[in-house]
Amino acid sequence: GYTVGVVGATGAVGEEIVSVLSRRGFPVKQLKLFSSARSAGKVKNTPLGDITIQEFSVPEARSCDYVFLAVDGDFAKEYAPQITQDNGPVVIDNSSAWRMDPDVPLVVPEINIAAAKGKKLIANPNCTTSIALMALYPLHKEFGVKKCIVSTYQAASGAGAPGMQELLDETKKYVTTGELPSNKVFAHPLPLNVIPHIDKFQDNMYTKEEMKVTWESRKIMGLPDLRVSCTSVRIPTLRAHSESITIETEKPVSADRAREVLRAAPGVKVVDDPLNNQYPMPLTATGAFDVEVGRIRANDVFGDCGLDFFVCGDQLLRGAALNAVLIAEALVK
Ligand code: HSE
Repeated sequence: GYTVGVVGATGAVGEEIVSVLSRRGFPVKQLKLFSSARSAGKVKNTPLGDITIQEFSVPEARSCDYVFLAVDGDFAKEYAPQITQDNGPVVIDNSSAWRMDPDVPLVVPEINIAAAKGKKLIANPNCTTSIALMALYPLHKEFGVKKCIVSTYQAASGAGAPGMQELLDETKKYVTTGELPSNKVFAHPLPLNVIPHIDKFQDNMYTKEEMKVTWESRKIMGLPDLRVSCTSVRIPTLRAHSESITIETEKPVSADRAREVLRAAPGVKVVDDPLNNQYPMPLTATGAFDVEVGRIRANDVFGDCGLDFFVCGDQLLRGAALNAVLIAEALVK
């Protein structure tokens, strides 16, 4: 077995990583949970046993074989090189700090795990990207994707445990007192609302969240010229992101053939029987490893080369913890 460290162990993603290590039966010899000084010393009850949380230190992290970073980008920027240097452990970083660094592989295991072999620092993609790519990549292999338009419906968990808590608290407040919801975590109150604003606006007036889908999809699929436009929207769901995706393909595409391709794709569950009210939804995608794909239909905006579909994926799982653990699994094999 391996000594595994999780940095940011009390956060939503850190907790999910421990849960997935257990659910997948990853060979853990010893689990080390790291957090800030504030939580150090507390005993955390996890599916892998009761573990005392320690304050993060570079030497302690370096005593691991695999380290999952579930912390912010500034932390990852500073400490990932110190942990990995001189033959240190493999670090799988969930932040955006290293994703676009040309020397750091950005990996969705079902697509480009080869890029991770032999590397010490590996970046986990943004949740919105990895969820979309579970469907986009198999369709690309079959039909060639030229252009891609994405509209997202993103859950509160994208802003971590505080985001989920704010949604629940403010919804409850509204329901029980009639007082209008307020906000600290999100740009506006989230209950009763949708907010077309996630992360900072860029010079081109897309948000950073939207541009991540463009930048990261190009890098992971090895398609530097792929044309992508994304609109990212926060909605009052808890932890599964939904995305409506339109593609223009190189080869003609039909809904039936696309459905066949997606049925054979790893990590995908086709849920597409609209006449019986069966299609992807956050409620059914929550807690599942697979990304649900449905509402698959040809669109004639792009002649016979257009396809529309809808995906839902648990953003803490495929979007973060599951993707990270699958990378580690592939490396220990
Ligand atoms: N940036 C995403 C969101 C979380 O805010 O929904 C991704 O890990």
